[in-house]
Amino acid sequence: MRRLGRWLLMAIVAALGWARHREGRGADADAGDDGRIVPAGDPEPGAEIAVLLLLVAATLCAVGFIVVYAIDAIGNQTQLLGIAIGACFTFLAAALILVGKRLIVTEENEEEYPPAGHPEEQQELVQIVEESGSRFTRKRLLMTTGGAATAAVGAALVTPVLSLGPWLDTSSLANTPWRRGLRLIGSDGLPMFADQVEEGTFYTAFPEHANHDEIGAPVIVVRLPPSALRLPAERAGWAPGGVLAYSKICTHAGCAIALYRTPLFPPTSSKPAMVCPCHYSTFDPASGGTVIFGPAGRPLPQLPLYVGGDGVLRAAGNFSGPVGPSWRDVREHPT
Ligand code: FES
Repeated sequence: MRRLGRWLLMAIVAALGWARHREGRGADADAGDDGRIVPAGDPEPGAEIAVLLLLVAATLCAVGFIVVYAIDAIGNQTQLLGIAIGACFTFLAAALILVGKRLIVTEENEEEYPPAGHPEEQQELVQIVEESGSRFTRKRLLMTTGGAATAAVGAALVTPVLSLGPWLDTSSLANTPWRRGLRLIGSDGLPMFADQVEEGTFYTAFPEHANHDEIGAPVIVVRLPPSALRLPAERAGWAPGGVLAYSKICTHAGCAIALYRTPLFPPTSSKPAMVCPCHYSTFDPASGGTVIFGPAGRPLPQLPLYVGGDGVLRAAGNFSGPVGPSWRDVREHPT
């Protein structure tokens, strides 16, 4: 009798366990018929359209970034570039959040997935990923729009690389508006007469009729005693009466040379020098603009001068070297 009771108890426990197992299986079966792991989700056409619109908006913003970048004449270019790329990423992020929240079917697991080392488990994961997209009804359109957005954003991100300048043919970097015979025009807009240039100060001048925004246009003009000049032999005659002209653009990183150091007490003070305020590259006007201090790697290009019959300073040719910040192989490109 006691033995019968024990068998009966074992049968009840087994029946309860089987029933609980069935319950679990039943719940799994509810989650998906036909062998599904992830339950099928209801389509969300509204969310899909919103995602499409957000992707299109992101694409337009990325294209807008490229257009603003390409057209220098657009005002407030920097601000517009920031707004365009910022809006692009905002739209993109909103689209991805919407996809994650509304279009991907999610399931909650109380236990972590075991490491997927077995081929069947890996296949299960693939199936879960595939079935999670069951809410998408316009897959191809969404993928095309997403691809276009990705391509546009990628193009927008690499576009600024063009600002690194020409890689193969760098000859355009040596072009300047200076030609023999062009008069020097002071910052007051008037021709610069040689006898107006005084020692101990410096002047800014431009070629007549030239765009002042061109990097090769501005020069600084100084006067030194002719006896102090130590110019290279091939530049003899480039400084009439001790008047010298150099590019105003620093050869380090392109700042404007805006300081002129003059000796307060010549016997003990340093010699006159042109100084860039950005990183204090210091150039010697007496020796052809050579670097005497600072990070600049090459001299300031010198502009040869002569005095016209009217007493106005004129360019005798182009600069002694390429103007502006240095680049790869800059020394191999004489002007
Ligand atoms: S830009 Fe002139 S020293 Fe750096």
